[in-house]
Amino acid sequence: VSIGIDLGTSGLKALALTPEGHSVAEASASYPLLTPRPGWTEQKPSDWLEATRQALGELAGKLEAAGYTPVALGLSGQMHGAVFLDAWGEVIRPAPLWNDQRTAEACAEIEAAVPRPELIRRTGNPAVTGFQLPKLIWLRRAEGENFARTRRVLLPKDYLAFALTGNAATEPSDASGIGGLNLAAQDWDAEVLAALGLRSELFPEVIPSHGVVGGLRADWARVTGLPEGLPVVAGAGDNAAAAIGLGLSSARPGVGSVSLGTSGVIFLPLERPTPDPQGRIHLFCHADGGYHLLGVTLAAAGSLQWYRDRLAPGVAFDALMQEAAAVAAGSEGLLFMPYLAGERSPHLDPDLRGAWLGLSLAHTRGHLTRALLEGVAFSLKDVLEVMKPLATIRQLLAIGGGARSEVWLSILSAVLGAPLARTPIEEGPARGAALLGLVGAGVYQSVAEMLEATAPEAQAIPAYSEPAYAAAYERFKAGFRAV
Ligand code: XUL
Repeated sequence: VSIGIDLGTSGLKALALTPEGHSVAEASASYPLLTPRPGWTEQKPSDWLEATRQALGELAGKLEAAGYTPVALGLSGQMHGAVFLDAWGEVIRPAPLWNDQRTAEACAEIEAAVPRPELIRRTGNPAVTGFQLPKLIWLRRAEGENFARTRRVLLPKDYLAFALTGNAATEPSDASGIGGLNLAAQDWDAEVLAALGLRSELFPEVIPSHGVVGGLRADWARVTGLPEGLPVVAGAGDNAAAAIGLGLSSARPGVGSVSLGTSGVIFLPLERPTPDPQGRIHLFCHADGGYHLLGVTLAAAGSLQWYRDRLAPGVAFDALMQEAAAVAAGSEGLLFMPYLAGERSPHLDPDLRGAWLGLSLAHTRGHLTRALLEGVAFSLKDVLEVMKPLATIRQLLAIGGGARSEVWLSILSAVLGAPLARTPIEEGPARGAALLGLVGAGVYQSVAEMLEATAPEAQAIPAYSEPAYAAAYERFKAGFRAV
């Protein structure tokens, strides 16, 4: 079996897959999210290591009891975070995370040194507050002493690989979320880094996503019960890893996914790097040598969770969904702006806020709920509209908790106007990490061969169409200016 780890924001999940891609054991552990100041989010890398020890120990026990031998350990995790290490490989300060918002000035500094159009042409993206590079610039401005001690900066899952093996490396899918990787070369952009006065030695070597970083150290073998020297495979950022788990390949461009999780994400594989010239959606490397577009609406099922908890506490989601299903498409003029956490794509504006617009005495709770489901779908359509000129869109696999709701799926189908499909896979990024591990261990000769063998069946969802949404979407786009 191959072990996959997903180093998430709320916790860590480990699982073991057979070469056919069947999950045989799982374990997880959690850790706190630190918010020392408004807009700051941090975690202690030592907490990640403790969770890894726990989860791997439990998983190794289960595997041994069932008679399975691990052949590789693949990694995935939250993207964009910054683990600052000193000359001895010790962590200098807690790691700012992907959703940290302290870097607005650092982003301006980056775009003053490398004009936005050039930055997009080279790295695929503008300077985005959540990315890693602005965090390093922030450290230089705000904590000069810590910056002076920094010899290396690692992404969260790459720090884990460093701890497990003693070797530092990264791979293209996560590295392209730093902000300093040249997309065409899939390696550090020396000119961008030089313009910022940064040495490229601060960043680790870029190896393929299925590349082996090193063997599991003896001390980790002892505390977990896993074999010493077990190949630790670089893996992928959580979005690319989840896509690998769903069988999404840049050799089959146009087949992507739409996720209704806490955030809403559209992932679309590409053969070649075609950035949005305005940088409104992300362009990253995929874990199979290709590329992908990524659009994120920050509060998708998160909006629904907030709404249920604050305005309808104790009411079951199913009951809310039934009330929404009974309301006509378009919610009789009521619109919801899902910007409860600001917005990433396509607005890149952390200060946007949510709203219901157009309330009347005739509206019921069912209208509020339906408008919320529709508003999240409209914000995903905003993402898809930016993607359309850059890629063909043939099919989107609908995943995440929200995609289990029939009414939300039918709204999504009608609003996006793109063919949707279902898949039985629910394991998320850890599955992709384990699959990349299988390639690293030589069970498969290439990522393409592994995807051929393990991609799940997709079942098409009948298309819904709803004429009312065309006008409602136009009003949504205008309403965005009001919040
Ligand atoms: C992607 C992103 C998030 C994190 C969360 O750009 O910021 O999906 O990877 O885990």
